Amino acid sequence: MAPAQAHGVPVVPDSSIVPEAARNGIGIEVNGEHFVHTGDPQMPLLWYLRDVLWLTGTKYGGAHGENGADLVLLDGKPVSAITQPMAKLDGRRITTVEGLAANDGALHPLQQAFIDEDAIGCGYCTPGWLIAGIDLLKRKPQPTDADIDQLSNTCRCGCQTRVRAAIKRVAAGKVGQA
Ligand code: FES
Repeated sequence: MAPAQAHGVPVVPDSSIVPEAARNGIGIEVNGEHFVHTGDPQMPLLWYLRDVLWLTGTKYGGAHGENGADLVLLDGKPVSAITQPMAKLDGRRITTVEGLAANDGALHPLQQAFIDEDAIGCGYCTPGWLIAGIDLLKRKPQPTDADIDQLSNTCRCGCQTRVRAAIKRVAAGKVGQA
């Protein structure tokens, strides 16, 4: 049989192109829902959350997650979403800021405490603070200012003092009070 032609020129397959093996998909749970990722296994979790699932609460926190804005809970522990390739996440459970409220819409106590203390400026850093703060309160139910200051999160709007107050408000059981 004559070789295939394009515009009269024989088409010779490029033997250096190796087809990619079929992908089975990476199954992850995000905020209680199951998803299967069949795209690039090296895609960082942050881009998967924001660009595929449209969960845009988690923010870019630097190339290595250094400012804490991209924190999510991975099997209950805070991790930087930019540093987690999807390939590592098969069968894992992710909680983002969108998954902190209860199914009936009731805010997580720390979310409410941020409102009580007016601890939100532009809001860019807030999702990361919430994830880090929830983990801190679980590890240390009565955190000190120093414990809070040791978190990797930063706030360019200068809300750190109010964030401290919000975390300590939860510790004191005063959420929702004046
Ligand atoms: S509220 Fe704006 S960066 Fe923290």
